[in-house]
Amino acid sequence: MGSLVQVIRVPVSLGDRSYDILIQEGLLQDLGSCMKTIGLSGRVAMVTNPTVHRLYGRKAAQSLRRAGFRVYSVVMPDGERAKTLKWTAKIVDELVARRFERTDVLVALGGGVIGDITGFAAAMYLRGIPFVQVATTLVAQVDSSVGGKTGVNHPWGKNLIGAFYQPRLVLMDTATLRTLPRREWVAGLAEVIKYGMIADETFFEFLEQQVAPILALKQEPVQFLVKRCCELKSSVVAKDERESGLRRILNYGHTIGHALESLGRYRTFVHGEAVGVGMVQEAEISHSLGECSADVVIRQRELVQRVGLPVSLPPLRFSDLWNTMQHDKKVAKGQIHCVLPRKVGEVEVVSLNRHDVSAWFHGKKGRRK
Ligand SMILES: NC(=O)c1ccc[n+]([C@@H]2O[C@H](COP(=O)([O-])OP(=O)(O)OC[C@H]3O[C@@H](n4cnc5c(N)ncnc54)[C@H](O)[C@@H]3O)[C@@H](O)[C@H]2O)c1
Ligand SMILES: [Zn+2]
Repeated sequence: MGSLVQVIRVPVSLGDRSYDILIQEGLLQDLGSCMKTIGLSGRVAMVTNPTVHRLYGRKAAQSLRRAGFRVYSVVMPDGERAKTLKWTAKIVDELVARRFERTDVLVALGGGVIGDITGFAAAMYLRGIPFVQVATTLVAQVDSSVGGKTGVNHPWGKNLIGAFYQPRLVLMDTATLRTLPRREWVAGLAEVIKYGMIADETFFEFLEQQVAPILALKQEPVQFLVKRCCELKSSVVAKDERESGLRRILNYGHTIGHALESLGRYRTFVHGEAVGVGMVQEAEISHSLGECSADVVIRQRELVQRVGLPVSLPPLRFSDLWNTMQHDKKVAKGQIHCVLPRKVGEVEVVSLNRHDVSAWFHGKKGRRK
């Protein structure tokens, strides 16, 4: 077993559904023993995709077997397109065929797609069986594996079907981030910057100072960054598990971000890139309304740019942007609820009307001339 003493532990406090997030370079080899320690045993269906299976499937399965689990791999296609009810049903079919019981375990080995669908299958099968997430992308480590939102897409929209269902354990081996495609890695950093902006100026400063070592994937700053994001997200989730209020601050950058993803038919930007642009633009809106100083806009733009994320809107018409923003879930009576920064480390939820957004959009154009 590796040196478990160095493992970073972030507790997620949700009463009798509390669990730990464990973070360490090389931790994958201890997956089985970590699961045994929290009382899990029996059989494991390990859901993954061909990419992650090739890289980490054997190591994960070996660790599970060493700890006494019987392991079955369920390999589904890679990518967002497979995050469907059809593939959820296939996972469940596998569990039924193997006669999995309430005490057996589903393990998600992969990024956000695998985590979301596996968690949803775990929530449904026998009204809930134990579920463990092994998060292998930056997005999964700082965002999707924390908080218990599980689900799949419907042809008419992303994440339309789902459940709140908490895992028993989340394991993050930061060494797995080294094999991530560069674009995925950088895109994940948008969510990281988001946490600094919404809740922690000291963390934002840390990011400003450590851009180079972070981009070079030096383990010390990367482990710290993952830990801090997990702490920040889990403290928000602990106060508002079902998104009735506070949890909405996690949507910072996403009102415009989602609109850009949708307008580009999910081809122009990957999610994190759209969030990078979204944060920069939403800060500008905040400034145009007098809610934050120009410093905040400039400081955030610089950091977003330095990590290699886009900051500017692609060419688009105001009416298209406004109409698409209204399709977002946060709409109420011709107004949009948008998370805007007041300063670095502090945001508020503001209602915007068409006039507010139009003034910013057309003011921008004026300035560009
Ligand atoms: N549940 C939540 O709260 C929440 C929050 C944010 C995002 N999400 C969801 O997460 C999904 C996006 O997650 P993602 O960005 O991790 O995408 P992803 O799961 O598709 O992973 C991105 C790519 O990286 C590959 N990959 C994974 N780990 C790797 C590794 N270690 N080395 C090399 N390649 C690796 C994957 O096979 C995939 O091709 C979306 O479906 C989104 O809706 C959910
Ligand atoms: Zn996001």
